Amino acid sequence: MTLRIGLIIGSLRQASYSRRIAQALGELAPPGMVFNELAFADLALYNGDLEPQLPQPWQRFRAEVVASDALLFVVPEYNRSIPGGVKNAIDVGSKPTAQNCWSGKPALVVSQSAGPLGGLAGSYALKQALAAVNVATMPHPEVYLGRIATLFDGDGPMVSDTQEFLRGVLTSFETWITRFVPR
Ligand SMILES: Cc1cc2nc3c(=O)[nH]c(=O)nc-3n(C[C@H](O)[C@H](O)[C@H](O)COP(=O)(O)O)c2cc1C
Repeated sequence: MTLRIGLIIGSLRQASYSRRIAQALGELAPPGMVFNELAFADLALYNGDLEPQLPQPWQRFRAEVVASDALLFVVPEYNRSIPGGVKNAIDVGSKPTAQNCWSGKPALVVSQSAGPLGGLAGSYALKQALAAVNVATMPHPEVYLGRIATLFDGDGPMVSDTQEFLRGVLTSFETWITRFVPR
């Protein structure tokens, strides 16, 4: 059975570490786990007045979340929280309230930062917002990738220790997802 994972990469810059981590996760994923990136840069800032005309990017994004069996967020920490675009995507997906498209989905949060704390505060900010929209975030193992520049071999692959750690995380995530998605 295929598990469709909606992937949200929290950074828009081209050389993003978040994107490189997401690529590595795609290569480490167990068979059957298929990642589909959910783009959010084109989502207008949430404004309830736009609901009647339903902007096409909102419609697309909501449909992509609904079609996902589970969600994977790979995010940098921004000012002890998450990038604004990611929060806006959560807000867009959560409305109208009766059609909150996040509700009941299992998720994994991977945070990273240049410093030693690995985006811990950003990860918690994201988990708080996800709890509000009834997403079941995997509690353990937790993933905070600190000093991110040292976890890649220059412009090359991720270092092997981190790869092995993330391979185990993805195995746990698969088990977590199956609590919510019957196989
Ligand atoms: C606007 C902004 C705010 C940031 N705030 C924090 C922060 O609060 N804590 C932290 O550890 N790093 C912070 N950083 C550094 C980023 O988390 C770090 O450079 C990260 O690796 C960037 O991810 P990316 O390569 O995917 O773009 C910030 C960076 C930016 C651009």
